Amino acid sequence: MRLLVIGDIVGRPGLDRLKEELPLLLKNENIDFCVVNGENSAGGKGIKTKEYDEIISYGADFVTMGNHLYYRKDMANVYITLPRLLLPANITNLTGNNYVIVEKNNVKVGVFNLVGRAEMGDNFTANATNPFTEAIKVIEQLDNENVDFKILDFHAEATAEKIALAQYLKDKINCFFGTHTHVQTADEMIFDTGMAYITDVGMVGPSDSVLGLKKEIAIERFLTEKFIKYECSSNKAIFNAIIVEFDDNTKKAISIKRINN
Ligand SMILES: [Fe+2]
Ligand SMILES: [Fe+2]
Repeated sequence: MRLLVIGDIVGRPGLDRLKEELPLLLKNENIDFCVVNGENSAGGKGIKTKEYDEIISYGADFVTMGNHLYYRKDMANVYITLPRLLLPANITNLTGNNYVIVEKNNVKVGVFNLVGRAEMGDNFTANATNPFTEAIKVIEQLDNENVDFKILDFHAEATAEKIALAQYLKDKINCFFGTHTHVQTADEMIFDTGMAYITDVGMVGPSDSVLGLKKEIAIERFLTEKFIKYECSSNKAIFNAIIVEFDDNTKKAISIKRINN
């Protein structure tokens, strides 16, 4: 099984680059399943039905989220109507879409999404339960569904929290990837148990920016220490992703490759 995972899509530049790259990668890399993090696709803040439909139309099987889901309050009741959208399973004020299963060619893949609680801001942390204990609950549900592969998008800031959760889950799932920082890490690896891992996939978002947002505004914020509204940059997007290949019999990862261009 070959899996493509694409980091946070940021705004229109991210969606445009996704449109260019995703159909080609699916074909040229013989991809069976594709996960895209869509939490910044609506102008850099959250996702709406329009962006969800667009990401699915380019060939994604699953769209994961993160802390940005709260930026679109009007979407709160809509999220659970989107069949391929994952909500972080450990958030407390929205329920549903804790996992999504897609079956193709007799292979069943289950994806789930969790948010970290370290360095994520006090308001946010207050609205999320412990990702370690929540992970075990979702994995049990996926086991009851007899999936062949279990894949986690852990949307978190702190590298230690990501690596600790990966160590905790390494014999329970097949692929663990991090999102949220928008900066791709060069630590892709396969654990001794066969679980593929990367601390952060990165983003598909505007280059020459600050995590996809206009650099002038970001600098001004740090310089003056005052609130200035962020705006998404319109620069052409960089493309960050990983491709993981699994042994179909053992379900262990054989290779993990980063894409950063
Ligand atoms: Fe993000
Ligand atoms: Fe995020």
